[in-house]
Amino acid sequence: MTVLGSPPMGSTPRGKRNLKMSVLVDRFSRRIDYLRLSVTDRCNLRCIYCMPPEGVPHLDHADILTYEEIIRFLHVAVKAGIGKVRLTGGEPLVRRDVERLVEGIAALRPRLDISLTTNGTLLASMAEKLAAAGLKRVNVSIDSLHPETYRRLTRGGDLNSALEGVEAALEAGLEPVKINVVTLKHLNDEVEGFLDLVYRLPVHVRFIEYMSPCGAVDASYFVSNQELRAALLRRGAVEEDRPPVGGGPARYYRLPGARGTVGFISPVSSHFCPQCNRLRLTAEGRMRPCLFSSEEVDVRKILRGGGDGRETEEAVRRAILAALEKKPRDHAGLASFSRMNMSRIGG
Ligand code: GTP
Ligand code: 5AD
Ligand code: SF4
Repeated sequence: MTVLGSPPMGSTPRGKRNLKMSVLVDRFSRRIDYLRLSVTDRCNLRCIYCMPPEGVPHLDHADILTYEEIIRFLHVAVKAGIGKVRLTGGEPLVRRDVERLVEGIAALRPRLDISLTTNGTLLASMAEKLAAAGLKRVNVSIDSLHPETYRRLTRGGDLNSALEGVEAALEAGLEPVKINVVTLKHLNDEVEGFLDLVYRLPVHVRFIEYMSPCGAVDASYFVSNQELRAALLRRGAVEEDRPPVGGGPARYYRLPGARGTVGFISPVSSHFCPQCNRLRLTAEGRMRPCLFSSEEVDVRKILRGGGDGRETEEAVRRAILAALEKKPRDHAGLASFSRMNMSRIGG
């Protein structure tokens, strides 16, 4: 059963309970409070696991939600119980003036925790203004620390610009900074290099299991996090009891003397679906209940439908509940899904 009501007893400190705030709970009793918002399907890279060499057909500008439409949607979503929003893409920083969107989101009440997932290559010149606009933290995708391998994996990307993005994020106080590494057999066997990074910088490196149904390379590239985790434990790593701020499924470990941590995101070897807390909104304004579900609920139609403010707000609220209702229990085995377009859905 879907519930939209007051927070459960004891969910906020005594005396601080805000009766106006709602919570979203899905049919499997999961509390859903995290929205992944894809702001564009475009990207300035062509990672081999994400896109074919020629890229994917772009959406028309007119089909993409405007910033004003996104804010109207979020205005309803925060009242319904969304507390965290992560901007994704494609590459969110290729969308013009994205800091304006961040500023608009930061002005919403109740306040949202605003984060961003980026390839980092445009971050160096933007980190400061994004932080000033209200962005709290960033996750940067860097799959190799060797310039040539990085160039090959991203089909032309410049590793230095991504690393400069990481430095700029740290300087701008975007904290924590996490580095996403999708591990691919024989293509980026670089665990040691990434471990060195957490000794040098206060960053959180997360090894992500490759999900072949989403990607453009086949399942033979898959590396299980179980192997990597065992190697880390042999080096004396212990599970972090104060993991970095976040809303995702990563499990974190600390190596003796390291400034940052090492995390694992294991969608394939250990399903985190029972703890899933998220809904998605695609760049074209469709809510997706699950990364692996082709079900969608069209919100753009409502936002552009011309109803008065009240009617639109109520219709958006119902759309959020409809997406919540459609959340599956789990992804029922990755293999049963056909290829999907991560750059449009937002990772
Ligand atoms: P924080 O914990 O707040 O930092 O967020 P996050 O780790 O969820 O965000 P990020 O965008 O960095 O996502 C990391 C990776 O988790 C992505 O690359 C995806 O591979 C994976 N992922 C994110 N959301 C889902 C999901 O709903 N299902 C599955 N199976 N994988 C997901
Ligand atoms: N499997 C796992 N992670 C993926 N990402 C993109 N495609 C896949 C896939 N098939 C990751 C990116 C980025 C995040 C948003 O999603 O590397 O870190
Ligand atoms: Fe939840 Fe679907 Fe993601 Fe599994 S794949 S964690 S069910 S959104």
